[in-house]
Amino acid sequence: MIIRKAILPDVEEMYELVNYYASKGQMLPRSRSALYENIRDFVVIETDGQIIGLGALHVYWNDLAELRTLAVKNGMERQGFGKQIVEFISKEAKELKVQKIFTLTYQPDFFKKLGFSVIDKASMPQKIWTDCINCPKFPNCNEICLEVNIN
Ligand SMILES: CC(C)(COP(=O)(O)OP(=O)(O)OC[C@H]1O[C@@H](n2cnc3c(N)ncnc32)[C@H](O)[C@@H]1OP(=O)(O)O)[C@@H](O)C(=O)NCCC(=O)NCCS
Repeated sequence: MIIRKAILPDVEEMYELVNYYASKGQMLPRSRSALYENIRDFVVIETDGQIIGLGALHVYWNDLAELRTLAVKNGMERQGFGKQIVEFISKEAKELKVQKIFTLTYQPDFFKKLGFSVIDKASMPQKIWTDCINCPKFPNCNEICLEVNIN
């Protein structure tokens, strides 16, 4: 098992993984174009040459970043892969001197286990809503916002 930064040849498998859950309404869809453009945000877990998990750190401001597009392949959950991705991303965020990571999710209990706390979405800066306005669920979204201080 290798956890590493994503590279361009990973995109097709990343696309399949994200859009599998997006088709079930569990996360936002991502186009191939969005994955290529943001490839440097992404971390992947690879086993036997297959991508089985991914997650992204997207920086917004001098102290704030989002952990997003986190997914572990169907059938591979609850084996610690999600946690490893969050830990890898948190380490990267620390190195960048990010102060706070937030996430928008339907899985708040997973993030609470990793030290995140629920906050009021409305308290987040407008800058973070770029993704939301392109989402079919906007403005009636029931994702929960959580954050963790890391530096
Ligand atoms: C949510 C998700 C990323 C979790 O990944 P995972 O690899 O299954 O999680 P882990 O095995 O690393 O779990 C870490 C801890 O959280 C717990 N946990 C995992 N999923 C959980 C959930 N949905 N609710 C509550 N606790 C959860 C685990 O039991 C484990 O607890 P422990 O340390 O006490 O044993 C994964 O289930 C997934 O990809 N879901 C579909 C996509 C999705 O909903 N993404 C969410 C972000 S948008």
